[in-house]
Amino acid sequence: MIISSPSDYRDAAKKILPPFLFHYIDGGSYAEHTLRRNVDDLADIGLKQRVLNDMSELDLSTDIFGEKMRLPISLAPVGLTGMYARRGEVQAARAAEKKGISFTMSTVSVCPIEEVAPAIQRPMWFQLYVLKDRGFMKNVLERAKAAGVKTLVFTVDMPIPGARYRDMHSGMSGSFASMRRIYQAMRHPKWAFDVGVFGKPHDLGNVSAYRGEATNLEDYIGWLGSNFDPSISWKDLEWIRDFWDGPIVIKGILDVDDAKDAAKFGADGIVVSNHGGRQLDGVMSSAKALPAIADAVKGDMKIIVDSGIRSGLDVVRMLALGADHTMLGRSFIYALAAKGQAGVENLLDLYDKEMRVAMTLTGANSLADINQELLMQSF
Ligand code: FNR
Ligand code: LAC
Repeated sequence: MIISSPSDYRDAAKKILPPFLFHYIDGGSYAEHTLRRNVDDLADIGLKQRVLNDMSELDLSTDIFGEKMRLPISLAPVGLTGMYARRGEVQAARAAEKKGISFTMSTVSVCPIEEVAPAIQRPMWFQLYVLKDRGFMKNVLERAKAAGVKTLVFTVDMPIPGARYRDMHSGMSGSFASMRRIYQAMRHPKWAFDVGVFGKPHDLGNVSAYRGEATNLEDYIGWLGSNFDPSISWKDLEWIRDFWDGPIVIKGILDVDDAKDAAKFGADGIVVSNHGGRQLDGVMSSAKALPAIADAVKGDMKIIVDSGIRSGLDVVRMLALGADHTMLGRSFIYALAAKGQAGVENLLDLYDKEMRVAMTLTGANSLADINQELLMQSF
């Protein structure tokens, strides 16, 4: 299959992955309106074409939390990444490092912290979920610290998992799920050998290391539902702040008042996000939520945004809407599933090229030049 654009990786991933995994990645919650809006609202953001500004020198680099990045992009935390490619977290982290950006490891990754951190020089970012077992949270933070993690991404928009109906249809959950998954794996032999056989162990590496026994992935969705803690409140952040010395980023902010509270709490950054349309269907797209949040808190902390970004042009649009930095979720996962580390490296090259075209044709020589002035006024 010929890959010429970031979106080609979605088709390639669909061919390789057994459907239960493809739909877990690709799907959203309920009728998936927010999932579609994330992409559509962003595509509707018009930019002004400007010419004759000497665009021979472009600077796409940035500094975030004292870290240099070649692009204003980080890889978002994605659960079960090691199921989409062999030891997928290691491959993605290596690709990010090679391209000079950061990788964020999910709490619910397949590879444990101790497998991924030593595979790269650059400190990875670590994403924490609130689990009922606070002993686990403390343990995993200690291990992240010991592995050299500086930036902690604390995800707050998943006190319970959203209703993912696609997962029930696909065999990720629901009746006869394990039999259906075996049948699907047999029909996707490339994945079955590469990941299914040679990519073991398949479990939640961080949780298994804490419990001292393998966590079973048989009922992963059920596991999320029974272990995530809906009692979470701002108070929980206080002990995390006391415990964690490095930058803290709060992920899953969509409301101006919540953004102000995050600034009051002293967060170093927020991720404006609706979890890629996987939580509450019907909430605003990130692109729609971003300008008001940027108006309220820009400069107080770093504004990172995700949900719906599918191209380098989308990155430029998000920066023009007020973001300092972006995160890629599905976009990098499709590339990883299709072509492993090389796929993610190539994807980041494509983002780089697309950003250069967008910056050249809007007259922005550096990221600092990308602001509301670039936005087309609505008519
Ligand atoms: C996610 N996301 C996520 N977020 C998080 O904080 N911890 C996690 O473990 C996961 N797991 C996860 C699995 C899968 C399969 C997907 C697609 C997403 C959300 C992710 O970090 C990010 O917010 C969204 O993916 C952004 O939307 P796009 O870029 O996928 O549209
Ligand atoms: C998800 C979780 C794991 O979105 O964040 O599936």
